[in-house]
Amino acid sequence: MEFTIKSGSPEKQRSACVVVGVFDNRKPSLSADLIDRASGGYISEIIRRGDMEGKLGSTLLLHNVRGTLADRVLLVGLGKERDFRESEFRSAVRAAVRLLNETGSYEAVVYLTEEKVKRREVAWRVEHAVVVAMEAVYRFDQMKSQPAEVRRPLRKLTLSVPQRSDLGDGEAAAARGLAISHGMDLARDLGNLPGNICTPAHLAERAQALAQDLGFKCEVLERNQLEELKMGSFLSVTNGSDQPPKFIVLEYSGAGKKQKPCVLVGKGITFDSGGISLKPGLDMDQMKFDMCGAASVFGTFAAIAELKAKINLVGLVPACENMPNGRATKPGDIIKSMSGQTIEILNTDAEGRLILCDALTYAERYEPVAVVDIATLTGAMVVALGHIATGLFSNSDSLARALLNAGEESFDRSWQLPLWEDYHDGLASNFADFANIGTRAGGSITAACFLSKFAKKYDWAHLDIAGVAWKEGKEKGATGRPVPLLTTWLLSQENAA
Ligand code: BES
Ligand code: MN
Ligand code: ZN
Repeated sequence: MEFTIKSGSPEKQRSACVVVGVFDNRKPSLSADLIDRASGGYISEIIRRGDMEGKLGSTLLLHNVRGTLADRVLLVGLGKERDFRESEFRSAVRAAVRLLNETGSYEAVVYLTEEKVKRREVAWRVEHAVVVAMEAVYRFDQMKSQPAEVRRPLRKLTLSVPQRSDLGDGEAAAARGLAISHGMDLARDLGNLPGNICTPAHLAERAQALAQDLGFKCEVLERNQLEELKMGSFLSVTNGSDQPPKFIVLEYSGAGKKQKPCVLVGKGITFDSGGISLKPGLDMDQMKFDMCGAASVFGTFAAIAELKAKINLVGLVPACENMPNGRATKPGDIIKSMSGQTIEILNTDAEGRLILCDALTYAERYEPVAVVDIATLTGAMVVALGHIATGLFSNSDSLARALLNAGEESFDRSWQLPLWEDYHDGLASNFADFANIGTRAGGSITAACFLSKFAKKYDWAHLDIAGVAWKEGKEKGATGRPVPLLTTWLLSQENAA
């Protein structure tokens, strides 16, 4: 979809559709009021008759409204005016775009971006309108033999800003929103692909193609190189699989050579059967999404490269399957990680931490400013925070703060949990340096504690995205989170440097 920014009166727009808001006390927004005046009170008449009450997300499509130059006027409910905040703004835009995409308009001019959102400037509104619109029209039908056609898909949105002096900010914000959306689309596509297609080799190929397209570096380390690096923990997870493991290294340079990079580490389990500690059958198909951390790293690289951000960024993706066979790692086995620390595997289903820990050790060579790993790590995370917030853990308060802020800003929110020493006891082992699982209680925290043992040499944060990376039920599919959070955080680094 294409986006442009414009400033001007709604009744004067020559367009297939003009989109304006109505508040819940039956109060037209400023732009709805302009149309009302031009049409001799037509809008207020409709409101008075009770056909548009302004309930958040409700819509009413009108044709040939007199006094206006557009073919249609779409009224969108904004909810109560004093409750109109980030989430409400996004819901209103989503409702409008969904409707526009299903009706006859190829194009529309949206005035919702002129509505005031508490604490948010016009740039925020434009960026979020773009992201929400792109999210709403996303489809994944590449695996269908006969994709259902959208008859008249929405091709172009013009977003209106209050003043001509807002045009520059609006355009920059639209570019940011579009880059984030492209990153999310990529992350969603990769997440939605099935495990028989999206193998470690497929991820490696896609990473190489992306690097080629966008002009950054990509190197793929093969099994023999991983053996040389002594990545015994990562390799132990791949033992039971016929798919060769890949360790994908991405390097984007947008700043001077001397500037140390941020490093993103993404969990790339292309299918998690649990291994010998086999998972139950119910919903096991969802474990094709266990590479969504990796997908979010690729998506963030796509966004950062598209924006030519002035930062240096490294991406590390250990990719493999977790499968059971005669060569698979067994409960009780003891392995040696790249760091030299030994690990007793008490449950082969706690495999994410085993591939991430070697990547965290590998990250040391970059002397990074900060390392952030992103992983669908624990089912316990879904219990703790549901499908709304990402779990955030960090050994640095300032890094945690920066990520929490980026989450608020991008409405891709996270919530911090503790990493206190008291939780580490759970990982004690009688035979190795420590075990790969603790007790069931606080499972997300002990998993993060495990990772922290490999991240002592730099500022580090861990994002457990198990609850937010995909949706279940009717809307089943990858969400592209946390690409908005990561991209927003990295762009803030650009200004910090
Ligand atoms: N990939 C799963 C975590 C997961 C499960 C994410 C369900 C989303 C939904 C991870 O590899 C896993 O299996 N974790 C185990 C850890 C346990 C064995 C300590 C879990 O959460 O059950
Ligand atoms: Mn697992
Ligand atoms: Zn897993």
